[in-house]
Amino acid sequence: MAMATPNLSDVVRLLAEHEAAAERSLSLVPSENSMSGLAKLPMVLDSYHRYFFNEDDDPDRWHFRGAQGLRDVEMSVTIPLLERLGKATYVSVRPLSGLNAMTLALATLGGDPGSTVVTISPENGGHYATPSVAQRLGQRVEWLRGPNPHELDLEHAAELLGRIRPALVYVDQSHCLFPIDAAALVRTVREASPETLVHVDASHWMGLVLAGVFPNPLDAGADSFGGSTHKTFPGPHKAVLLTRDASIEKRIRETQDFLISSHHFASTLSLGMALLEFQEFGPAYAKTVVSHTKDFGRLLAERGLTVVAADRGYSAGHQLWLDTENDGVAPSLASDRLAAAGLNVNFMAGLPGFTRQGMRIGLNEAAYKGLTTEDLPELADVFVAAVRDTSPASGLADRVAALRGRVPLGAALPEAAQLLDSSLALVCRALRGHTS
Ligand SMILES: Cc1ncc(COP(=O)(O)O)c(C=O)c1O
Repeated sequence: MAMATPNLSDVVRLLAEHEAAAERSLSLVPSENSMSGLAKLPMVLDSYHRYFFNEDDDPDRWHFRGAQGLRDVEMSVTIPLLERLGKATYVSVRPLSGLNAMTLALATLGGDPGSTVVTISPENGGHYATPSVAQRLGQRVEWLRGPNPHELDLEHAAELLGRIRPALVYVDQSHCLFPIDAAALVRTVREASPETLVHVDASHWMGLVLAGVFPNPLDAGADSFGGSTHKTFPGPHKAVLLTRDASIEKRIRETQDFLISSHHFASTLSLGMALLEFQEFGPAYAKTVVSHTKDFGRLLAERGLTVVAADRGYSAGHQLWLDTENDGVAPSLASDRLAAAGLNVNFMAGLPGFTRQGMRIGLNEAAYKGLTTEDLPELADVFVAAVRDTSPASGLADRVAALRGRVPLGAALPEAAQLLDSSLALVCRALRGHTS
């Protein structure tokens, strides 16, 4: 039975209960990640309440006062680090999330109402929202499709592009085990329809791209790329757009002020802090995400679960897809059993190649939380025992809690503990409304 409307103390209690459960559990949801306590600071301090628009520090444009002292964090930390790691000359940190970045990219680059956007078909892992957002902007939608769920048919792409000459090709892999060959796709677009722009929505791959472990879409010839900063990138819920093209920069600047007002300034400060940390551990973390994912796929398969794409090494990135129905356990039931053991996963219809529901997991947060290669067999044992219900959930949950004892990468940085200690008083004062 649902509780009566919770009062404030109920909400605080629910938060505390959630926190206690979260401390003992591990998210294997590929769209989620974690970040350091330090990077969360701007979210609980006064900065959370401030607008910031005056990027040029024009004395006549501080129409919203209060964030002047923090301007340099967005302008001299967040943006330059994204430009460097993303190999771009312009970065917009305005988007609030991946879907918001998609809306901004489609509104900016997808052409006027009546023009056509070509995007990845759902059968090849395209994001569910892309066609709907494009259609709401008055754009028509056509699909890139593939000979299998993991590759695109470039001959079909060339024929389609040459025939319809779309304004934009929007590459939106969301259910994705292997990145498409963006360089080959861009070459196809340039030959078949030279006026067409290419935008890569790398929401799922962002951490792997910024770490240099996945190819940079701009190096592959794309006109722009972007996406969420909280999936493989261990940062705040937020998104970014990047380009090297001055005319695209101009178009983004002209559009974004009318789609986004508050860009959640504190999140851009958090993102800057997460990037400062990421430049220390990013490449090693991203390599670990990729190797953990492949290893975990193999370990689950060795223990008898059906893991998709065994013939291709299971995954090149952070996602694995499991057909637990094939192993006699409906994905929703498997997900319930895993949750009781402290492991949170996705289950859903629509995974490419599936005719019924499947399970989608990711090793990105596990890698950020510091799980090592030696931890993976234990994680796989717990996972399989939970799915098959061969051990009591409470014992499995204790084993997951033990795995959660590893030190997260952000907290392991040399200066982290001391900076966090010195910030605690700041947090207490802010939470008390600066009255003590
Ligand atoms: C390609 C792509 N674009 C956009 C989104 C939406 O991102 P967010 O949840 O940050 O709004 C996703 C999420 O999975 C995605 O995969």
